[in-house]
Amino acid sequence: MSAGSVGAVFSAAHDEFALWSGRLWRPLGEILTTVSRPEPGERVLDACCGAGASALPAARAVGPAGVVHAVDLAERLVEQGAREAEALGLAQAQFTTGDVLAHDGGPYDVVQSAYGVFFFPDLDEGARTLVGKLRPGGRFVVSSWLAGGMSRIVPVGRAAALPERPELAGQEGRPNASERVDTADKLTGWLSSLGLDEVTVRQVRYTQPLHPDDAWTFLLGAAMRGFVAGLEPDALERVRVRFLDGLREAGIDELDATSLIGTGYRPGV
Ligand SMILES: C[S@@+](CC[C@H](N)C(=O)[O-])C[C@H]1O[C@@H](n2cnc3c(N)ncnc32)[C@H](O)[C@@H]1O
Repeated sequence: MSAGSVGAVFSAAHDEFALWSGRLWRPLGEILTTVSRPEPGERVLDACCGAGASALPAARAVGPAGVVHAVDLAERLVEQGAREAEALGLAQAQFTTGDVLAHDGGPYDVVQSAYGVFFFPDLDEGARTLVGKLRPGGRFVVSSWLAGGMSRIVPVGRAAALPERPELAGQEGRPNASERVDTADKLTGWLSSLGLDEVTVRQVRYTQPLHPDDAWTFLLGAAMRGFVAGLEPDALERVRVRFLDGLREAGIDELDATSLIGTGYRPGV
């Protein structure tokens, strides 16, 4: 997806994304922040911040003497994060709509990104741009999905949408950037290839029951929404039925959001 369409898909997904905040994005954002551990007074860039799942805990951690620049392409998610920061009195959380790769800021003590970097048009180039915004000794912290978890649902969503959107056929089997960072070894190797020091990767097991109704809101609240963008209601309903059948056939009745959180330090201190 181009940057424009990623932003448009996630912005349109705003309502369903919010339904999944409490049980997915927020807890995993909190957990990311327990690894990045922003300290009082630090400067943090939260890249691909969505509605602030990891930016808001980071803002609490840095306190009023610090700052968190939270940047995302999806305008409606950013608005939601900004509203929440205001309600929580976290003036140090500054939300901006835009491409984080073009964000002018830094140097930062921490650059963190939850489930965002694999949407960049070029994973390596994008990550190098983010690493370049760190001060020497600053830490880069990213989370990704473990192979065999979240990735099992996506082909089911694509197959369900395919009869309505034949152009999706060409995308099957196409290398996906998330597959480059979906095991501890791959994520370690990738962070090291960015020139980072002291690379560590932690695995966080995170699963929960997946009711069919919730599975559908999950599809509509995530990148899979791109599969059904622009479909008329009757076509959408056919996709929904095929998607739920597909999940049943694949035996998927839980959401396995088991994650990897990788950390590395920019050399130079
Ligand atoms: C799976 S969501 C995760 C959002 C948030 N980090 C969270 O954990 O709740 C991925 C986000 O990456 C954003 N994104 C992708 N590419 C981006 C870019 N180049 N600049 C800013 N945001 C981007 C999307 O708009 C989307 O909100």
